[in-house]
Amino acid sequence: MSDGCCGATTPLEAERPTLKSDGLPVVVIGAGPVGLAAAAHLAERGLDFLVLEAGGQAGASIARWGHVRVFSPWRYNIDAAARRLLDAAGWQAPDDEWLPTGAELVEHYLAPLAKALGDRVRPNARVAGITRAGFDRVRTDGRESVPFLIRLAGGEELHARAVIDASGTYASPNVLGASGLPAHGEAEAAAFIDHALPDVLGADRAAYEGRRTLVVGAGHSAATTLLALAELPDTPITWAIRAGEATRAYGGGDADALPARGALGTRLHALVESGRITLLTGFHTHRVRRTAEGVEVTSRTSSGAERAITVDRVVSATGYRPDHSIAAELRLDLDPVLGATRALAPLIDPNRHSCGTVPPHGVDELAHPEPGYYAVGVKSYGRAPTFLMATGYEQARSVVAALAGDWEAARDVRLDLPETGVCSSSLAEAQERRVGLATGVAGGLLAGPLPLVTVASSGGGCCG
Ligand SMILES: Cc1cc2nc3c(=O)[nH]c(=O)nc-3n(C[C@H](O)[C@H](O)[C@H](O)COP(=O)(O)OP(=O)(O)OC[C@H]3O[C@@H](n4cnc5c(N)ncnc54)[C@H](O)[C@@H]3O)c2cc1C
Ligand SMILES: NC(=O)c1ccc[n+]([C@@H]2O[C@H](COP(=O)([O-])OP(=O)(O)OC[C@H]3O[C@@H](n4cnc5c(N)ncnc54)[C@H](OP(=O)(O)O)[C@@H]3O)[C@@H](O)[C@H]2O)c1
Repeated sequence: MSDGCCGATTPLEAERPTLKSDGLPVVVIGAGPVGLAAAAHLAERGLDFLVLEAGGQAGASIARWGHVRVFSPWRYNIDAAARRLLDAAGWQAPDDEWLPTGAELVEHYLAPLAKALGDRVRPNARVAGITRAGFDRVRTDGRESVPFLIRLAGGEELHARAVIDASGTYASPNVLGASGLPAHGEAEAAAFIDHALPDVLGADRAAYEGRRTLVVGAGHSAATTLLALAELPDTPITWAIRAGEATRAYGGGDADALPARGALGTRLHALVESGRITLLTGFHTHRVRRTAEGVEVTSRTSSGAERAITVDRVVSATGYRPDHSIAAELRLDLDPVLGATRALAPLIDPNRHSCGTVPPHGVDELAHPEPGYYAVGVKSYGRAPTFLMATGYEQARSVVAALAGDWEAARDVRLDLPETGVCSSSLAEAQERRVGLATGVAGGLLAGPLPLVTVASSGGGCCG
């Protein structure tokens, strides 16, 4: 006699889907540099795939900051498999040493790459959710053997044998509120707040020229916007940071191996010193309010002390956070600090790595309890601000090798940008000792001197 609970076939088991993963494509979410790199590796290995891109073109997020020149030259920005694919298509490679703008990255690299990949890159296809066909997150028995079910924003559903989520973080910026929650009134004042990297000298000039502007944040985005604002005549600029001083934000100056990155902090420092930019330190945004005079932004410290500034526009350059909601029905094991995988987080946590260096990592560090789902690219770093494209290319190569069953290649992870080692403050010394560029610095990429590290792994932390 069955007690109705166990042993006998339950109605749910009887309805278990029979759909098999064999013959289904790998779905890549996002046609940014890392999603397209994954696609190039999949193509090279002869695996069927489909890239779903929310925007109308490849590199849609990068196109949003197309006016910004990146810090890393072309040679760091092109994936190896993508280069082979493009070369075969007769591509005119850009100068390895040139620093492209976001727009140039799209025009000279991502757009031709998407073209070479053909109709397997699908624009205007926003993924709304991912699950296992017939299984919610709770059901265990047999879930690995059924395909992923991917629902697009328009309602269409697709099946996949694996999912590489390279959807980035650009669409989920951090808030103005200093404690991580939105400041009071932040949503209501949205019309007066731009997120990072408005095109101050181009398309958005009219919104800024001659207007009192407050820039909040301590990273490269804040610095980039502040330098651009300083070129506008009669435009009062205030810069608010949470820290007690801006030293970290000024960066490594001449010691930075990416000279454009070093110059950013140096120029910013000079503008603050000259009085062109008014710096407010220890500013903890608590409230944003529209008044007859403009937008009032109030700081409140933990002791309750308040001060306010009234401006016409606010630029919230407070960084980004990952949005894992599309994968909420999958079994993810996320680090509580960063929202990266637990294996990757300790390698990139800015609280622990004063140089922001990252050891090579791949499929093993990126795996979740949900077999076949991998977040790669800047999304894989969660809230750590030190991601570089080259890191993502190696992630993509490793994950695709694993999906092809080539575990030897998958685990043979290397980074052109180096791993652990000794930070150097001198480019000459770094070259002499055959070291390369690290990925950034603690607490934001403006936070310290040049992160140059030895290429050879010597174990242990990088720089104390
Ligand atoms: C201003 C700026 C400058 C940078 N400069 C450098 C640099 O000099 N060197 C360097 O190495 N790195 C740099 N980075 C860091 C990083 O390399 C880039 O952010 C890079 O674009 C990350 O690539 P990605 O493919 O992971 O994500 P993204 O480029 O953000 O691509 C994600 C793609 O996914 C799409 N997408 C999002 N959600 C969905 C969805 N639900 N469904 C389908 N598609 C979706 C987006 O439209 C987008 O096209 C910079 C970042 C910024 C913001
Ligand atoms: N030209 C370029 O290549 C270029 C230009 C711009 C950006 N980037 C890249 O883009 C990525 C993102 O840079 P980003 O500057 O946008 O973000 P970021 O590096 O994360 O910096 C944002 C900083 O703002 C501060 N912050 C966070 N929340 C805050 C809040 N609520 N109020 C006040 N301050 C807050 C934090 O510093 P504290 O903790 O010290 O407060 C944080 O480090 C980086 O990889 C960067 O290198 C590159």
